[in-house]
Amino acid sequence: MTNTDMEKVVDTSDDWIQQRTGIKARHIANDTETTSYMASQAGKNALAAGGLRPEDIDAVIVCTSTPDNTFPSVAASVQAQLDIPPCQAFDLQAVCSGFVYGITVANMFITTGQAKRVLLIGAEKFSSILDWDDRTTCVLFGDGAGAIILEADENGQGGLQDRGVLSTHLYADGRKKDILYTSGGPATTKTSGFVVMQGREVFKHAVTHMADIVEETLVANDIKPADIDFLVPHQANIRIIEATAKKLDMPMDKVVVTVDRHGNTSAASIPLALCTAVNDGRIKKNDMLLLEALGAGLTWGAALVRF
Ligand code: ACO
Repeated sequence: MTNTDMEKVVDTSDDWIQQRTGIKARHIANDTETTSYMASQAGKNALAAGGLRPEDIDAVIVCTSTPDNTFPSVAASVQAQLDIPPCQAFDLQAVCSGFVYGITVANMFITTGQAKRVLLIGAEKFSSILDWDDRTTCVLFGDGAGAIILEADENGQGGLQDRGVLSTHLYADGRKKDILYTSGGPATTKTSGFVVMQGREVFKHAVTHMADIVEETLVANDIKPADIDFLVPHQANIRIIEATAKKLDMPMDKVVVTVDRHGNTSAASIPLALCTAVNDGRIKKNDMLLLEALGAGLTWGAALVRF
């Protein structure tokens, strides 16, 4: 759905959307394309890319705020759709930070021996929780899913040269919960409600927290910005992405940007961006990647990984 299509829905313009956000188009799922359907497609592609069978997976984690139903989890549905035998499966909800939280949990499952191969999916159908009369939110979001598989490797040296998750940094500040929320939920309105956002406030927090978390990650690993091959940020707004890149002194050709074609797909945005840059050959095996995101909660976080 292009910005021009959006002009037919609300009082907006391609110019406004592009200038304020960098978004040109977003994908909107149809009625049969549920979150679990999109998640399963992404999971199937990840299995194929890794040359793995469903029975090789022993944990499924789906990061989402837009499940098909309140329960069962999307992860359980994905497990059924992909024919993955009984194993650990659950959803994780940290809104737009979901994938960074998810990669942290998946890594802990692996490092503690709780799982050998985790299918980690970010999947969202945000179009179903948008107020399509509210131009301040409906132009920003889109639907989609992306997946990765994390695998235990006994041969690592325990250093920055290892492939895998090198460090993760997570935060939440619930005192800021009222600047980005849904206007309903099962235990309040008995509906899912719609996205409500004080955009300018969220924007300010995003720029500050992303700069801080990037700095924290660099210091924690004793690395310089030049050591990072690609920044794979949450895709909410090109201006937030550019501010973080500037803080890192990173040229934009080392930053993966998909917000122009996907809009903000919440927990799906990082795996979608990652997948785009892997498929087009930019990101290669052994590249050091910095993933970062901020979302409702507020939640925010970063993960340094070697692909
Ligand atoms: N089309 C045209 N005009 C619009 C639109 C629109 N779609 N939306 C708002 N406007 C108008 C406003 O009404 C306002 O007009 P006014 O000055 O006459 O009142 C004007 O544009 C400016 O509005 P602002 O909200 O101040 O615009 P801003 O430059 O802040 O951009 C935006 C808004 C894009 C939402 C930005 O603040 C942003 O990206 N915020 C962060 C979003 C984010 O990062 N979310 C994180 C995660 S999301 C999650 O977790 C679910």
